[in-house]
Amino acid sequence: MDVMEVDGNRCISCGLCEKTCPMKLIGKDGESLPVFRTDGVECMECGHCEAVCPKKALRWNRDGETGAETLAKSGGTCIDLIKNRRSCRLFSAKSVPKEIVEKAIDAARYAPSAKNSQPVRWTVITDKNRIAALSRQLQAKNRENPAMARRYKYVASGEDPIFRGAGMLVIVHGDPDETLWPGDGIIAATCFDLAASSLGLGTCWSGTAFSAAAPVKQAFGIPEKDLLHAVIMTGFPAVAFTTIPPRKNIRLAYR
Ligand SMILES: Cc1cc2nc3c(=O)[nH]c(=O)nc-3n(C[C@H](O)[C@H](O)[C@H](O)COP(=O)(O)O)c2cc1C
Repeated sequence: MDVMEVDGNRCISCGLCEKTCPMKLIGKDGESLPVFRTDGVECMECGHCEAVCPKKALRWNRDGETGAETLAKSGGTCIDLIKNRRSCRLFSAKSVPKEIVEKAIDAARYAPSAKNSQPVRWTVITDKNRIAALSRQLQAKNRENPAMARRYKYVASGEDPIFRGAGMLVIVHGDPDETLWPGDGIIAATCFDLAASSLGLGTCWSGTAFSAAAPVKQAFGIPEKDLLHAVIMTGFPAVAFTTIPPRKNIRLAYR
């Protein structure tokens, strides 16, 4: 089975699958249908190529996963929010008003935390130049590792493969002396992520930044001793998903 199958009768060559692929693995064949490049760059396996297609012309196959689902519309429950949230890697040029990001951060104040310690602090970066400078620094470091360098093979000049052109980074961190359980930071970040999505923002967690705690803290004046919980690219999404990408079947046991 091919990783990606395209129905030539449905495809309108809109290019959204190509634009959305985080690893730039989708190109065009001679007749302008999207093709999956199988030359060694690792697929993120996010299924966004299928989920963004407006014509349901593309099927992305991964063993053991159910096909794309229609967007959840169960009447405003939190389940819809969880299922329909997607990582955003294409941001519009519109900047996020402070009130909106603060509303999402405020919602995360109500997240559970061990012994109600509420150890989380937030740093929001809105300067695109500083975000781009950190991206360049992290890319240069990554390019020293051949496996990571391969990831940038199809990245065009001027594109940011790390922060994806997001105009805002939301950084979740905390003083280790106030932190009983480091997982509190991830819980708060997840609450922020969902709240942001409910307010129409697009977000994407940056594992690359998370793995580079020292340069991130240094770039943005976060205390060196702090725990870095999450770095979340934030902005308004430039594209909408039409379906929910495939997911593994639930693995559940009652004993
Ligand atoms: C801890 C974590 C780290 C991630 N790191 C990156 C990253 O560095 N770059 C990126 O483009 N996406 C990153 N993602 C997004 C995942 O690729 C994405 O969540 C996954 O493919 C599922 O897609 P969805 O969020 O749209 O459901 C990260 C997500 C998480 C939770």
